[in-house]
Amino acid sequence: MTAAESYLPAGWAWYIAIVTVASLAYCLWVLISNNTRKLPGEEVKLHGTNVWDGLREYDNPLPRWWRNLFYITVFFASAYLILYPGIGVSTGILGWSSSGLHKAEVEATEKRVAPMFENYAKQDVAALAADEGATKIGASLFQAYCIQCHGSDMRGAKGFPNLVDADWQWTGTPEGILETILGGRNAAMPAFNEQLNKDQIADVVNYVIQLSGRQVDVASAARGEATFKTVCAACHGPEGKGMQALGAPNLTDSTWLYGGSAAAITETLVKGRAGVMPAFKDFLGEPRVKLLAAYVYAQSREAERTASTQ
Ligand code: HEC
Ligand code: HEC
Repeated sequence: MTAAESYLPAGWAWYIAIVTVASLAYCLWVLISNNTRKLPGEEVKLHGTNVWDGLREYDNPLPRWWRNLFYITVFFASAYLILYPGIGVSTGILGWSSSGLHKAEVEATEKRVAPMFENYAKQDVAALAADEGATKIGASLFQAYCIQCHGSDMRGAKGFPNLVDADWQWTGTPEGILETILGGRNAAMPAFNEQLNKDQIADVVNYVIQLSGRQVDVASAARGEATFKTVCAACHGPEGKGMQALGAPNLTDSTWLYGGSAAAITETLVKGRAGVMPAFKDFLGEPRVKLLAAYVYAQSREAERTASTQ
């Protein structure tokens, strides 16, 4: 750590360095200037005239062992500050740093686990999903990197998809999930508040609600259907079943990313939506992402199986 890298501005680093060195020098001066010794036969003087509870203080020299201990601490502090980066402006002659130590430990761990990850990296996602050791590592990676958005139960939240339902916005194939996590996904649902007026939006909202099998004003939904076929079908498909290549969701099911109420759908149409799944390729590297994809795939298959047997 140099002063430039430290979190302190250089001025403060110098300030601390000067105060530290000055304090050590002061300690040394106090010790040396009190370096008195009792000569044989010398009478010890009283220290001041204070009498307290019948006790009086004599001006004896400091015990030698005590003073030497003090010299040792001053010497230790100086040596420490020369060797290690204790003073703001110095990196210490040993070149040690906590970030360097951390880096070395990370590198050592990386070296130890590299062969294991290499072995996993050779297999495809579907094979890894059947390997309990691999999905176990995937599970702990998921807990570390994914739960803040997708939840520890993988069921997501508003705007963050549930990963253990059978409903895939982008794709649920093993290789597709891998692609999602490696490269991230950017959804682009345009805002329609300029292209469509209020009534048109209300009509198309009714049509979307009808698509998912609910009762609505039929005349309004019929008008909405016409709008849907001309402006929405390009992405959501003529029947509203969605298009995974664009991440355009299926609007005919009961799964909603942003909510299926009239108010939520209206908000989607008025403001647009732009969900972002971050890319993890550079951050975690391909072998780890493969294990994550395997875990997500295995969990969603498991959830499907239990759902179909219920
Ligand atoms: C350019 C392609 C495109 C067009 C055109 C488009 N959409 Fe979308 N739509 C998307 C994408 C992509 C998403 C997913 C947004 C996200 O994940 O953030 C989406 C999301 C939605 C949602 C949210 C679904 C949910 O699960 O919460 C609704 C509702 C919706 N669109 C309705 C419409 C309607 C109605 C129209 C026509 C007026 C329309 N879309 C036109 C691409 C499009
Ligand atoms: C910053 C929040 C965030 C984090 C962290 C995050 N995701 Fe996502 N993820 C999203 C959002 C938002 C979407 C939906 C994008 C969209 O609207 O299309 C998504 C979508 C996905 C999808 C696609 C789902 C589908 O239906 O196609 C998968 C798979 C996925 N994430 C897995 C992961 C994994 C595994 C991790 C951990 C490595 C992770 N995500 C971390 C926000 C996040």
